Amino acid sequence: MQNVILVGPMGAGKSTIGRLLAKELRLHFKDSDKEIEQRTGADIPWIFDVEGEQGFREREQSMVVELCELDGVVIATGGGVVLRPENRQALRDGGRVVYLHASVEQQLERTSRDRNRPLLRNAEPGKVLRNLMEIRDPLYREIADIIIETDERPPRLVVQEIIDRL
Ligand code: S3P
Repeated sequence: MQNVILVGPMGAGKSTIGRLLAKELRLHFKDSDKEIEQRTGADIPWIFDVEGEQGFREREQSMVVELCELDGVVIATGGGVVLRPENRQALRDGGRVVYLHASVEQQLERTSRDRNRPLLRNAEPGKVLRNLMEIRDPLYREIADIIIETDERPPRLVVQEIIDRL
């Protein structure tokens, strides 16, 4: 089976949905951010603090290229993975790309209790998420085979829709 690759903004539910989807499809699950943390032995905020966003993006690119070469896995990516053209190419070539869409309001709600997102630490989160979506939404759409709405929908329902449309 082809890989299933989940893209979308912070708070779209990529990790939660990815884990459930992999279970349903009996595939392995790989979370790009978690893999980076395991390899580095440091968490994402620490990488941003010490190496800057640029350093994180370098690690992200090598991880994504590596994960996309696997076979038959569900992959959850970080929200900024689509920024680099090399990543977009690797994702497109790597399997079926599913864009989990969420409104900025839902993203805000789902990320509000989470301190693990460096891009949301220093500015008004609503403004940041809105600006990011303006740049990234067209990029998610550019590489998506399937676009799924996640607003106000429980993960199980989203998973079922992905399976129906794969
Ligand atoms: C980022 C999203 C995060 C993580 C990093 C940068 C982004 O992943 O990769 O903090 O640029 O949107 P999630 O989308 O899983 O929160």
